[in-house]
Amino acid sequence: MIMDGMSEMASRVRPLAGALGAEVTGVDLATLSDAGFTELTKAFLEHQVLVFRDQTLDAASYLETARRFGSPVAYPFAEGVADHPEITVIIKEPHQTSNFGGMWHSDTTYKPEPPKATMLYCRETPEAGGDTVFACQYRAFEALSEPMKKILMGLNGVSSSGKNAAALRGTHLATGTMQGTGCADVMTAVHPAVRRHPETGRCALYVNPSHTVGFEGMTDAESTPIREFLFQHQIRLEFTARVRWAPGTLVIWDNRSSQHCAINDYDGQRREMWRITLAGDPPV
Ligand code: SIN
Repeated sequence: MIMDGMSEMASRVRPLAGALGAEVTGVDLATLSDAGFTELTKAFLEHQVLVFRDQTLDAASYLETARRFGSPVAYPFAEGVADHPEITVIIKEPHQTSNFGGMWHSDTTYKPEPPKATMLYCRETPEAGGDTVFACQYRAFEALSEPMKKILMGLNGVSSSGKNAAALRGTHLATGTMQGTGCADVMTAVHPAVRRHPETGRCALYVNPSHTVGFEGMTDAESTPIREFLFQHQIRLEFTARVRWAPGTLVIWDNRSSQHCAINDYDGQRREMWRITLAGDPPV
C-alpha cells in the first residue's frame, strides 16, 4: 500500500515499547512518495528505531531506499556486495557460534564521523531467536543524577575498533561472507561522553561497551569504574525495545541516540541480513 499524509502515517506508527521503537504498518518503502518519506523522517526522530514488515527489495532498490534516508557509507572492515559496496552482508552460518554485533554498541564510534543511522534488511532468520535489542540513550542520560550528568558532560570517551576486533574476525572474516579490506589498523576516535543530537537537540549518553576503552586524560583506574557503571546503567530493561525479525523486515535505527545488541541464541541455524550505514556528523 502506498501511503501519504500526516494523519494516515501517524495512525500507522505503533510504539514497540515505552522507551523507543515503533512499527510502521502498511508502507511499501520502494514506492513511498517524498511526502511519505518526510513523515517517516519525523517518526524516525521521535521513535529512534522504525520497523517495516514485508518489504520486497533487491540490492539496488534497497540502496535506493537508503538514499532517501541519508548517504550510504561503506563499512571499514568488510567489503560490500558486488556492484553495491555500501551493502554489507552479515551472515551467521549454522556451524558458527559467535555473531556480528553481539555486544551492546552504537555503530563504529571509533570513526571521527560515526554513522547517523543503520539499516538492516532481513533475508533469512532462524525459526526462533536472532532478535535485536535496542536501548534509548536519551532515557539513559536523563535517568542519571544531576552530579553524574555534570561529570559526564565534561568527559570525552575514547573509542577503539580494537576492543571487539577478535570477535569480529572469528565470526565473519573466517567465513568469507565478510572479506577483510586490508584496513588492518585499529581505528580510534574521541567523542563527547554525552552528545547533543543534531536534529532533536536532546542529550544522549554516547559511550558503549563494545568500543569505549576509556576517557580522555583519565587513568584506567579512574575511568574503569565509571565505564562499568555506565555499561550496566545504559541498557536497563526499561530503556529497551526488542525486534523480532522475519524475511522482508527492514529496520532503521538512530546511532546518535540508541545502541543495540544482536542476540546470539540460535546456534545451528542460519541468519542473513543486509546492512547499510548512513553518514553522520562529528558528535558534539
Ligand atoms: C549490527 O550490530 O549492526 C547488526 C545487528 C544485528 O545483526 O541484529
